[in-house]
Amino acid sequence: MSLSNKLITITGAASGIGLSTARILARRGALLSLADYNASKLQNAHSELASLSSSSKVISTPLDIRDTDSVNKWIHNTKEKFGMYIDGAANVAGFHPLWTPKNVQDISDEEFEEVIAINTTGLFKCLRAQLAEGVLNEKGASIVNVGSVSGLIGFAGDAAYVASKHATHGLTKSVSKEAGKRNIRVNAVAPGQTDTPMVQAMQAENGVLPTPAVSLGRSGMPEEVAELIVWLLGYESRYVTGSIYRIDGGMLE
Ligand SMILES: NC(=O)c1ccc[n+]([C@@H]2O[C@H](COP(=O)([O-])OP(=O)(O)OC[C@H]3O[C@@H](n4cnc5c(N)ncnc54)[C@H](O)[C@@H]3O)[C@@H](O)[C@H]2O)c1
Repeated sequence: MSLSNKLITITGAASGIGLSTARILARRGALLSLADYNASKLQNAHSELASLSSSSKVISTPLDIRDTDSVNKWIHNTKEKFGMYIDGAANVAGFHPLWTPKNVQDISDEEFEEVIAINTTGLFKCLRAQLAEGVLNEKGASIVNVGSVSGLIGFAGDAAYVASKHATHGLTKSVSKEAGKRNIRVNAVAPGQTDTPMVQAMQAENGVLPTPAVSLGRSGMPEEVAELIVWLLGYESRYVTGSIYRIDGGMLE
């Protein structure tokens, strides 16, 4: 129950892995500051989570993590509204374009830059705001970034996303080395194919994706990834930092 009354920020909280993470944290009594750029889905998430715990324990901010001012204000306001340091951050927001696979010679500047702007630069902006002096609880805070197996290996036809997720893992490893002396841990999870609206939208656009070649023979569920994120946020993982935790059902490479 180590997360009771701990203040946790979550990006991408309106859907999929971020929403599943918020649900577990709400049930454990955490204080939640949710952010997402889909304002209507965020409103629905807010209502559900407030009913799971208490409306005084949840605040929501529609924002785009590409916008520096919005990210900085969100983190500042979170601390002010709850009147305490932030104990944890789940940086989950991410974007995969609804492309049929495209080799690098067919990707436009705009397509490549949109993926990097959200998955890499947007994450950087969140980390910068969270790691500014006086924001996180330096008696023990934890940041969890959501990478991907696409941050560990290459996939033909998906170079932009793969590059963006390798950068997620690179940010995680470097920032963990900077933050450790402040008693702040920084880790990432690297999910394989997980059954979320992101993957469902790709399937609707491109037809059913091939069943992933994994030992467990099925896709992951968002709550399975969320449980790992919550463990990394909590006291139980207090000696873990700079790690990338693969959660992919045993991908057969
Ligand atoms: N589903 C998978 O198979 C899978 C696998 C590996 C990694 N991931 C990663 O997991 C994370 C969560 O994805 P998901 O599958 O739950 O997808 P999802 O689409 O269900 O949720 C992603 C959320 O992020 C939000 N978001 C996207 N861009 C944003 C921005 N610029 N600013 C603020 N919010 C933004 C979306 O509105 C959405 O609510 C992503 O980082 C994704 O890359 C997913």
